[in-house]
Amino acid sequence: MSDKVRLGIIGTGGIAGSHLGGYKALVDAGYTQFEIAALADVNDEQRARFAAKVEELFGNTPAQFRSAEELAEMSDVVAVDICTPHAFHHTAAIPCLEAGLDVMVEKPCGITIKATDRILQAAAKKNRIVAVAEQVRRGIKSRCMSWAVNEAKMIGDPRFLSVMGLGTWDFAEVTKSYAMQWRMLKLLTGGGMIFDAGAHFADMMYYLFGDVVDVYAWLGCFQDITINSTELGPRPMDVEDTWTSVIRFKSGMVANWTWSFAAPGEPVAAQILYGSGGSAHDRGGWMHTFQNGADLTLADGTKKSYEEIEKEYRAQLSPETREALFPYGVENDFALECWDFIDSVQKRRKPEIDAETTKWTKSICLAAYESSVCGKPVTVRDVHDGKVSAYQDPINEYWGI
Ligand SMILES: NC(=O)c1ccc[n+]([C@@H]2O[C@H](COP(=O)([O-])OP(=O)(O)OC[C@H]3O[C@@H](n4cnc5c(N)ncnc54)[C@H](O)[C@@H]3O)[C@@H](O)[C@H]2O)c1
Repeated sequence: MSDKVRLGIIGTGGIAGSHLGGYKALVDAGYTQFEIAALADVNDEQRARFAAKVEELFGNTPAQFRSAEELAEMSDVVAVDICTPHAFHHTAAIPCLEAGLDVMVEKPCGITIKATDRILQAAAKKNRIVAVAEQVRRGIKSRCMSWAVNEAKMIGDPRFLSVMGLGTWDFAEVTKSYAMQWRMLKLLTGGGMIFDAGAHFADMMYYLFGDVVDVYAWLGCFQDITINSTELGPRPMDVEDTWTSVIRFKSGMVANWTWSFAAPGEPVAAQILYGSGGSAHDRGGWMHTFQNGADLTLADGTKKSYEEIEKEYRAQLSPETREALFPYGVENDFALECWDFIDSVQKRRKPEIDAETTKWTKSICLAAYESSVCGKPVTVRDVHDGKVSAYQDPINEYWGI
């Protein structure tokens, strides 16, 4: 085995903390092929707190920097894990790639398609890896449900998926935190929850059902609030809090995805997949399809709980598949995405989820925005190929992408 991967983390906020938990779970399981050697964050206090946590969990003191450029230039890391807001994915990734570092970028890997392309071009020039931190499909419950649906065919051939989440979320209250402020401004986030949490939904759609042909969507914003943005100053929230959409797959499958954070009264949360032989009712209330497993109702009325399905899944796993999907016995999704990155850096192999893959999955989300602008269905391919970009154009113009 080659030397330990000296790793930097850029952006030490909320999700970086979950990654840290993932790295710790790897060490606890006996995987010690990395060292968190450097951190970068524009927020000095946040970064110092994170450095103290690294020291507490791993026993070493990481070097600290204010920017990706400084970290790339002055530290001795060979790989970085980028956990910044979406507008700063490409600005963090590109200098690191240019300095010859491999990168893992949090989903959705670039604020627009053009931003992803810039990252891919920088990686190609230096022959570097761009992994994407997308964890939902990697956990045992998602893997198990993918097996139940696509291999064991427990509900027959998938026909359609219906996703509805209706309720209220008071953005005026939640946007007091930095992490929610940037999420409410298109220039910083690239789109609202269709693009943010929707990145997980889109990845699971692609993982479970394959290519999406097109998306037709309506989206709107009923909440009228001002965001006091650290980066942009006071501005009106300008991303969706409500949407309804139809997603058509190449396989013939279809999904409807309807959501609102501005629906007072009776809340609804349901995600149900129907196949020719029954249905799978997702246990989660969020957009992370199958992350919490699902319960089946078969055509003859028979019920099968997630626990029964997982028992069957574990029983049929070969030692090779078990080791490939859950190395070191790790079943935690964040730990598995961190392992995949470190292992791909060491072995110079393709990570399971890379920037090319997520360019397709983010195109599913972006097709919803582009459809809402032009008022008709938009193909995922046209978004992916940059032929349709009216929604994204102002973002690219603002940041000079
Ligand atoms: N995989 C998941 O389940 C999941 C969950 C939440 C967030 N995310 C993703 O993680 C990323 C970060 O989200 P978060 O919730 O951790 O946000 P956050 O606001 O909690 O943290 C972002 C951090 O980046 C820092 N930062 C901002 N600009 C920077 C720059 N130019 N250079 C260096 N540091 C900078 C901020 O100071 C902050 O500490 C996003 O891509 C988001 O979509 C993924």
